[in-house]
Amino acid sequence: MVSMKKVSRSKKIDQKKGQKTTSKNIKGLQKSEVSEKNVKEPSQEITFRIQRVIQGKTEMRDYKIEVGRGDTILDCLDKIRDDLDPSLSFRRNCRNTICGSCAMTINGRARLACKEHALNLIDKETTKENTKENAKEKIITITPMRNMPVVKDLVNDMTSFWNQYKKIKPWVDTGDKPLPEKEFLMSIEQFQELEQSADCIMCGLCYADSNGVEAEKEFLGPAALARAYRLIADPRDAKQEERIKAVDNKHGTWDCMHCFYCTEVCPVDVDPLAQILKIRKMAVEKGSTKTRGAMHHLTFIKSVKDSGILNENKLPIGSIGGIFNIVGMFEITPVGFRMLTHGKMPSLIHHKIPKIEDVREIFNHFKKESFKKKDDSPVNYQ
Ligand code: SF4
Ligand code: FES
Repeated sequence: MVSMKKVSRSKKIDQKKGQKTTSKNIKGLQKSEVSEKNVKEPSQEITFRIQRVIQGKTEMRDYKIEVGRGDTILDCLDKIRDDLDPSLSFRRNCRNTICGSCAMTINGRARLACKEHALNLIDKETTKENTKENAKEKIITITPMRNMPVVKDLVNDMTSFWNQYKKIKPWVDTGDKPLPEKEFLMSIEQFQELEQSADCIMCGLCYADSNGVEAEKEFLGPAALARAYRLIADPRDAKQEERIKAVDNKHGTWDCMHCFYCTEVCPVDVDPLAQILKIRKMAVEKGSTKTRGAMHHLTFIKSVKDSGILNENKLPIGSIGGIFNIVGMFEITPVGFRMLTHGKMPSLIHHKIPKIEDVREIFNHFKKESFKKKDDSPVNYQ
């Protein structure tokens, strides 16, 4: 089927050019454009283990169907619903990684069903849920996204995701800036700065797999913060300062715990973690060094610069701003006590690593680079 489409398109192209299409160049096209493997490979019987909600009860159900090379998970779900079980519920729209509707958990990882090819998953996957045994037995597990309640089967209630998104005021606010007569003009460099974060399709995959969201429901989440950066970097927007302040707090950028899953699962390479780190850096550079996150960050850097390794005794105290923060001390004492009783207390004597000068040299190098790149002074980590 695939090869036939390609041949008929090539015929049209040849006719346009006024060339005669011969059986020789059709054969040539078949060889070069469609791999022999795709043409000859027979379909395989795959078991889809899908989470269902039947009469209010959640259970896993197996569906076996024939899957060809090139069939996406979404094609397979359509087939299951059309041929085997019309009660199966899932969302979809564009079928082309544009609308973000078909987000779900496939083999333990948040993914878009229209982007993943079923046989590729069987070939390669050995994730937590899709063990080697599952791959051998040709089983693909599909469950709804995590971190959001389930409405039915693979359909999530995404209200919390959208509520967090709304909090960052996700529109360009020109404030009192004089408006141009026609459109705003932007340099290529300015556009490149926000291009990556502007690619977000609001699928929610990053929110679903974020450890930060799992641990703290108030965390704004990777997508909202990536969008916040997109607006902070937008030269049309007049609210950069307010925007940075609004997310420079516990449930903003500092609730991110660097699990990297947001960046790993994002289907369009927004790299939300990178955007979060950019906002943190901007906040610290603008003098916001008194939030817990910033103090944690700066204490960490100072410790590595001083001794070459992290001083785990100083880190919690540095993160609350010192021992005179009585409330903070009360908060961290139980953690220290638990560490002590579980034998996790680091040694009280902290040594410098040999060749600490090399580590300081690295710091100095980055400080110089930072000066070269920007007019404003980098953070003083002394
Ligand atoms: S950042 Fe990526 S994963 Fe998160 S909502 Fe946007 S497109 Fe989806
Ligand atoms: S159906 Fe639109 S992204 Fe998958």
